[in-house]
Parts: sequence; structure tokens; C-alpha cells
Amino acid sequence: MNPRAIRYGIDHPTLAYYRALVAEHGSPLLVISRQRLIAQYQTLQQYLPHVAFYYAIKAFPNADVIRILAEQGCHFDVASEGEIALLKAHRISGRHTIHTHPIKKDTDIRAALRGGSTTFVVDNLDELKKLIPYRQRVGVLLRVSFRSDSAAVDLSRKFGCNPADVPAIVREAQALDIHIRGLSFHVGSQSLDSATHVAAIHECARLIADCNRDSDNPMNVLDIGGGFPLDYADAQLDLDAYFAPIQTALTALPDDLHVIAEPGRFLVAPAVTGIATITGKARRGDYQWYYLDDWIYGSYSGQLFDHVHYPLQITRDASNLEAAILSGPTCDSIDIIAEDVLLPTLEEGDLVIGHMMGAYTAATATRFNSLSGAKILL
Ligand SMILES: Cc1ncc(COP(=O)(O)O)c(C=O)c1O
Repeated sequence: MNPRAIRYGIDHPTLAYYRALVAEHGSPLLVISRQRLIAQYQTLQQYLPHVAFYYAIKAFPNADVIRILAEQGCHFDVASEGEIALLKAHRISGRHTIHTHPIKKDTDIRAALRGGSTTFVVDNLDELKKLIPYRQRVGVLLRVSFRSDSAAVDLSRKFGCNPADVPAIVREAQALDIHIRGLSFHVGSQSLDSATHVAAIHECARLIADCNRDSDNPMNVLDIGGGFPLDYADAQLDLDAYFAPIQTALTALPDDLHVIAEPGRFLVAPAVTGIATITGKARRGDYQWYYLDDWIYGSYSGQLFDHVHYPLQITRDASNLEAAILSGPTCDSIDIIAEDVLLPTLEEGDLVIGHMMGAYTAATATRFNSLSGAKILL
């Protein structure tokens, strides 16, 4: 039997609130909590004081999230023309952004500049050279690769230069009169151990100090990326223990090194709750199947792309449990949200709640079967 934990039962005011939302807006829903979003931002500020945050819009590209975080003083990490347009539509100046995609077309660079973004990430000489026409207007962060076994999603295989190549790229940038403002890295998303962060901070500090020794235009930015983890599996993840070594490593940096970060998941995942409704049921062999109106190609797409299983809650108490399957509505047999779970008898119309559903959920949802997807509410 799959040990995936299900939370059973729900308090009456919360259930009434969810039911009222469904009655008014339909189902499925993704509901943003402003309070929780601000709490996550403040938590990160407490763990990483003196770090400037750039929310990685890709995690949950949503206007309300952007507005709330902007009100808190958060900046933004953009990686596409669409993300820049989203900021522009909400009158957020590109001056508060960094463009973190290491591989860009000229049209991407131009769109970012038009949007006011002037800090670009590169990780190789070809990409650096694409910035020659704009060198008077741009500053560059050079992305360095640090592989991590403890991350759910390795982001240093595809992007980032070898640390040993940093001095040569910096020298070439100086020769091309392009200003390298600093170094950046991303140790991988949902990184459960901060050791790679710490090693990367130390190594980048050393590289910056070495490169600055003979430079008229020294680097003064270190971008420590995202990757900060969440406890999806109720595994007693100790955030104090996780962040303490990173804090210590940051404290040892020179005072004039400006540290920034690009968190996505940590800010937004706990701030969004999914509400789906059971639309039908069937007995098949040893299993009781329940069909929901949200799906693996929809808000639950992160189970495939992001390797995360969201904590699920049903509204009935744990009595007469039997082996069950929670399935999505599409025609595809991989469209299953939870296999082999123990459930009491559920009925059509029952709600199934998905917790921590903000990061890489709606962002990667598709319109398979021409289903329209969860409505997002604040
Ligand atoms: C360049 C970059 N920055 C930041 C992030 C956000 O990472 P996380 O959601 O793990 O904090 C990502 C995620 O893919 C990324 O690719």
C-alpha cells in the first residue's frame, strides 16, 4: 500500500468557506492567501537578512502575487518576454528585475531592455557577445554551475559555467568592455540540504575576490538563486537547521558584496490551496475509483514536472477506510492524482483539497481535452 499521507476531516468554518467559493466560482479552484504569501516573504527575510529578493515569476505567474510581493518591496526574476509583459501590465518597472535566462535571442534582449531590465545572466562567451551592441546599458551576472544531489530538480546540468572558467570569461568581458556585476548560481529546486548553497557561496566569494584583484570595475553582486525547500511530505523539515549554515556563510562575505536571491517555490507554494470536486465514482477490481475535476495535466502537473506530491485533504473523517484511487477526468490513464490511498466512502460533490499548490502547478498546466483549468482566486 502506498504510504502517501491523506489528511482526513476538516473544520466546519473552513469547509463552509470552500463550499461558498465553489458555489460562487465553480470548481476546480486555486485560492491564493495574501496573508500566507506575505508570511512566507517575511520568513525568508528573517532567515536571510540583508538579502534582496527577486521573486522567480515562473513559479506562479500571477498578477495578484506580483502585486502583493511588490507591495512588500520584493523585486522580480524574469526569464521571458511574457513575464516582462506581465510586470509591465501591472506597472512594475523593469528596473526592479533581473533577466535570469542564460540563453537568449536578440529579440529577448531587446524586449527586456524595452521593459527596463538591464541586468542579464549569461554563462558562456557566445551569450556574452550577444550583449556587445547593448554594452553601455547592461550589467551581467555570470552563472556558475554547482550540481546538487539533494535537489528535486537539478538546475545546474543545463545552465551555468564551470567555476574554473569564470576568470577567463570575466577577462573576455573586460576586453569587450561589458561590465560583469557579479556571479550567480542556482543549486536546484527543492534542495533539501543547504551544503551545496554554502559551498557555492564560498567558491563564488573566492572567485569574485580573485577576479577583483586586477580589475578597475570590480564585481559586487552575488546572486544565490532559489531552491529553498518546503515540507510537502510532513517530514519535519527543520528550516532553522537548513538556513543557519547559509546565514553563517553570508555573514562571512565582505560588506560591500550585495547579495540577492531568486526564490520561487518557497514564497508561493504554501500560499495557494487547490480545491477540486469529485464528479463521479466507480468500483474497479480491488479499488474504489474517484474522478475529480482537476487533473495531472492541470493544477497537479507538478506531480509530473516538478516531482512533488501535494498534501491532500478530504473533508470526511477516517472511518471504514478502503483502498482507493483519486483520478483526474481526462481520457489518459496517467491522469491519476493519488494511487493506492486509504479513503472513507466519498460521494459525488465532495471536495478534495490540495495544500501547498502555488509553485509549478498552474504554471505548467495544459489544456488537454480542452478542459479550461482551475480558476485562480485571491
Ligand atoms: C533561474 C532560476 N531562478 C529561480 C528559480 C526559482 O527556483 P525555486 O522555485 O526553486 O526557488 C528557478 C527555477 O526554475 C530558475 O530557473
